[in-house]
Amino acid sequence: MIKGTIVLNFKAYSEILGDSAVTIAKNIASVHNKGFELILVPTLLTLREVAKTIKIPVYSPHTDPFPPGPHTGGIIIDELKKLGIKGTLLNHSEKKLPFSILTKTVEYCKKKQFPVILCTSSLTEVKKMITLKPEYLAFEPPELIGGKISVSKAKPLSIIKTVQVVKKINPQTQVLCGAGIQNRDDLQKALQLGAQGVLLSHALIKTKKPEKVLEMMLS
Ligand code: G3P
Repeated sequence: MIKGTIVLNFKAYSEILGDSAVTIAKNIASVHNKGFELILVPTLLTLREVAKTIKIPVYSPHTDPFPPGPHTGGIIIDELKKLGIKGTLLNHSEKKLPFSILTKTVEYCKKKQFPVILCTSSLTEVKKMITLKPEYLAFEPPELIGGKISVSKAKPLSIIKTVQVVKKINPQTQVLCGAGIQNRDDLQKALQLGAQGVLLSHALIKTKKPEKVLEMMLS
């Protein structure tokens, strides 16, 4: 049984641009997962190389809701799938989308069997987004993103409430939480509160030895 899901969002930090994305991905892949499911979300420009190099599932940080066709600059699921990409993250607070676009995109992802991690920034948004029944719903308070205080320590009641709301509407959706997750305590606390995993970024991406931090987190 999977102990939890760890989604590593590379964002667009200088440490992961270009070939560095593959180096970090390899270092992450060298860590024993200890029964956790790992998902990597590199930049659009590096996800192909990362997916070719490691076995951990790679998700796209964005996807458009259309089939192949005349869509200049489009991020097309059919192409992502051809490149070995296993799913997508949508609506991160750093890349918000209108609800009408999200509705179309999540529907299209379902049709294409392309799992979605749908991000939310508040309980109000959780209530709205769960109606789309994504595979994963992530709760990430924007004010804690990139900081040293984790969502599991700062907002325990919001995590509990998110789990309640999600499970009432669609028990199959896995609940994740993120923002400021740094270490084993933050991960364990999130799991104790009912989350099924976490999203994180700077604690791994902005350190010299991400594999060491991850190893301690999963220990
Ligand atoms: O998507 C994960 C993210 O927004 C959390 O970022 O740097 O607070 O772990 P960070």
